[in-house]
Amino acid sequence: VTNKEWLAGTGAVLLGVIGDPIAHSKSPVMHQAALEALGLPGFYVPMHVKTGQVKDAIAGIKALGFRGINVTIPHKLEVIPHLDHLDETALRIGAVNTIVNDQGVLTGYNTDGIGYVRSLKEEAAPDLKGKKIVVLGAGGAARGIIYALSLENPDRIYVANRTVDKAEAMAAEWKDLADIRGISMMQLPECLKDADILINTTSVGMHPNMADTPVDTDLIPQGIVVSDLIYNPLQTKLLAESAQKGCVVHGGLGMFVNQGAYALEYWTGLPAPVAAMRNAVLKDMG
Ligand code: ATR
Repeated sequence: VTNKEWLAGTGAVLLGVIGDPIAHSKSPVMHQAALEALGLPGFYVPMHVKTGQVKDAIAGIKALGFRGINVTIPHKLEVIPHLDHLDETALRIGAVNTIVNDQGVLTGYNTDGIGYVRSLKEEAAPDLKGKKIVVLGAGGAARGIIYALSLENPDRIYVANRTVDKAEAMAAEWKDLADIRGISMMQLPECLKDADILINTTSVGMHPNMADTPVDTDLIPQGIVVSDLIYNPLQTKLLAESAQKGCVVHGGLGMFVNQGAYALEYWTGLPAPVAAMRNAVLKDMG
């Protein structure tokens, strides 16, 4: 292989993910399939890094010649001081899920939000311009997707959160980007009436608590787009009940695959084999 200075001295591309816990991450299976589909010699390994060990882990990435890593819970904020550069999106979101190592110079990116929006547009809502969007939750996952949504010229984004202060703070922080309004769960029924898209970013409904929904589905207007970031299960109760009333439903698998696809493109400069990546995750989920 010529002109691929990102290959380690071994002639392989070294990639991985740090997190705690990490054993059940689907990223290794997905990215290993991607490397195979691209015909690239390489490895993507899960690395169990505990809080307090992040600085040493990042030094290790450099010393070992890793081309890049993903960063997952709980380290998306903690890695930032150990990087050399932060791209604009990661800076605004305040969280990093992808690091690229250019011969010892580390740059942090956030592909969660753009991965989500790409998936939403491809699978459920091709044009977000002028849409009224209701987002449930105001945590780390919500930040990434609300930032990416705000760049799509929506009419308005309502952020509904149990702790309303967090939603209001986010709306104030990004008021230069879009019409974002923090609302309480009490205001949610009224805001849902003219919504075009409802997005759940909370963990309500995730395995093993699959009998829960983050909102009473009777409040969801018929025929709108309902999206859930959860991908285990592939179809949450929120999505199943919304589908029954004629809504266009969109699950979290596409976000997971696309955040990985963008990361792989940053590491290799090659178009990601998205179908192979999706199939590898589906196969692994049984
Ligand atoms: P993540 O990175 O997955 O977004 P997080 O930053 O801890 O995780 O944020 C979790 C989000 O889900 C928050 O908006 C949280 O609401 P609070 O800010 O009020 O805590 C929301 N959430 C989690 N469990 C919830 C529940 N049982 N009911 C309603 N909201 C919940």
